[in-house]
Amino acid sequence: MNYYKISNLESYFKAYKKSVKEPENFWGEIADENFTWYQKWDKVLDYDMINADIKWFVNGKVNIVKNCIDRHLNKRGNKTAIIFEPNNPDEAAQHITYLELHERVCRMANVLKDKGIKKGDRVCIYLPMIPELAVSLLACARIGAIHSVVFAGFSASAVASRITDSECKMVITSDGAYRGNKSIDLKGIVDEALEKCPSVESVLVVKRTNTDVRMKEGRDQWIQPLLDAAAKDNVAEIMDAEDPLFILYTSGSTGKPKGMVHTTAGYMVYTAFTFKNIFNYKEHDIYWCTADIGWITGHSYIVYGPLLNGATTVIFEGVPSYPDFSRFWDVIDKHKINQFYTAPTAIRALAKENLSYVENHDLSSIKVLGSVGEPINEEAWHWYNNHVGRKTSPITDTWWQTETGGIMIAPLPFITPTKPTYATLPLPGIQPVLMDDRRNEIEDNQVVGSLCIKYPWPGIARTIWGDHQRFIDTYFSAFPGKYFTGDGALRDEVGYYRITGRVDDVVIVSGHNLGTAPIEDAINEHPAVAESAIVGFPHDVKGNALYGFITLKEVGEYRDRANLTKEINEHISSHIGPIAKLDKIQFVSGLPKTRSGKIMRRILRKIAEGDFSNFGDTSTLLNPEIVDEIKNERID
Ligand code: PRX
Repeated sequence: MNYYKISNLESYFKAYKKSVKEPENFWGEIADENFTWYQKWDKVLDYDMINADIKWFVNGKVNIVKNCIDRHLNKRGNKTAIIFEPNNPDEAAQHITYLELHERVCRMANVLKDKGIKKGDRVCIYLPMIPELAVSLLACARIGAIHSVVFAGFSASAVASRITDSECKMVITSDGAYRGNKSIDLKGIVDEALEKCPSVESVLVVKRTNTDVRMKEGRDQWIQPLLDAAAKDNVAEIMDAEDPLFILYTSGSTGKPKGMVHTTAGYMVYTAFTFKNIFNYKEHDIYWCTADIGWITGHSYIVYGPLLNGATTVIFEGVPSYPDFSRFWDVIDKHKINQFYTAPTAIRALAKENLSYVENHDLSSIKVLGSVGEPINEEAWHWYNNHVGRKTSPITDTWWQTETGGIMIAPLPFITPTKPTYATLPLPGIQPVLMDDRRNEIEDNQVVGSLCIKYPWPGIARTIWGDHQRFIDTYFSAFPGKYFTGDGALRDEVGYYRITGRVDDVVIVSGHNLGTAPIEDAINEHPAVAESAIVGFPHDVKGNALYGFITLKEVGEYRDRANLTKEINEHISSHIGPIAKLDKIQFVSGLPKTRSGKIMRRILRKIAEGDFSNFGDTSTLLNPEIVDEIKNERID
């Protein structure tokens, strides 16, 4: 049986069974039959789930970009690899073939090498959603440099902390970025960030908005003349299976972002396999994922997964609301999209608008719909199904994380019967378990537990850059021997999983994973603030929004609360980015604390949600009287 492509429910169960009983044979066969290797592995898997030491395809030698591009050139050289759809619909879309992509990536790889970038060096990429973003990732991977993409909505200090953490030698950016009717001064943000980043030796700048920028002598260069002068072929670096491919930062429950490290071969095999099956991709399909390449969804399912399968993938620079709310439907109609992958927050926002935006477009090309980033509520699911999928295109609700590298739990279209709000069944190779607070496995149905995975899969992150102990502590300690996801979930009677949300101090806002601790750290730096606690509360478009409870140092000095609220949000914007702004800020005279000084977030969460029914045990509070005050002054 060919396990790479699952064709019906029976073969899913067969593949699943094999992946659990003989995981090494299962993944070994897939890796062997579907990729080009310089050298095969000695052992498929070597692992220790206590010390979080996981190796796949041990001693295998490979280059992921050879697999994404070069090996397709004979058969698919003139096939479109990337469709670029610009922010402004009046600007022509670009179709980049596999041959053209090969040349562009090789030229960029040669430029990086000329600038002294070697295997293992870190390169920060801070670019808008333009083809150069994908080309930069692939050029790094071709020469073995480790890319660290920072989402172009992050602020200068967020960029600086990420660059410093991984000691990047180079930054690739652009003069500016278009976003709807705004343009953003990316180069200015990089300049500000680099004041604090001594490791960076060079900055390459892509011209996108033609805005005036400052070019620092000896450090900054326009990229185009260098690309034009570079050779158009490049010999790919031979990489070990476990050489790092990229670092991607994700929020954590302490202030410092975690640089998740993904390695080469396992990530390659896992993203390719999951892309193929979850999107039911066929040779001539046009696939569009609306995420930004600055997030894991874009890494795995705009760039690597699709290209590994020789697919046509869309890079969309714009936003769903520009020039109006029909943009998504317009692009689907224009490029005859077959697979459309987006986030519940976008669906909810678009569902609020007039139906005519959707109905005026021909969406009949769509075969498969995907959802990612947060639980999809029933109403949004039905709207997506009725109006975008016309009740004929299955919705695949894909649950996964930056740390998992690829999709873990999701229905396979046309194979797994869907059920709204359920991510349904695990992919072959994924062994989920639900754990109770006493660290016992939950066998019963409909009981919420902590979602863990009890066996390694090829796409799992291998470490946190520079801090393996934090990797162990965050993911492998709560339930020893298992990977702990930080999510809660339940299982129904047929074994379908439903993700219920985070069980830690991470809040998913509009599909973005935000740690509350870094936001609190940013707020606490404001001179008026003594202390703060941030919690999430339900929001009908964003899924969750942020509620801040803040105590002030000198109450008298800051009487103008409206102004202070504004200042605090500006502070968050400049420290993290506008995505982390608070929807509600309540100034309080104290925060509920345990005798050991810990803030009781559980109570604050309930107050923010407007649920005063049961605060649980408050007897351990140092200051129980504060609860009534906070409750009475709650912002509605
Ligand atoms: O809570 C889960 C939620 O997003 C978290 C991972 O966020 P991030 O690392 O930014 O990756 C997002 C894209 C994969 C998870 O721990 N999440 C993601 N997808 C779903 C989801 N929650 C419910 N259903 C989903 N389909």
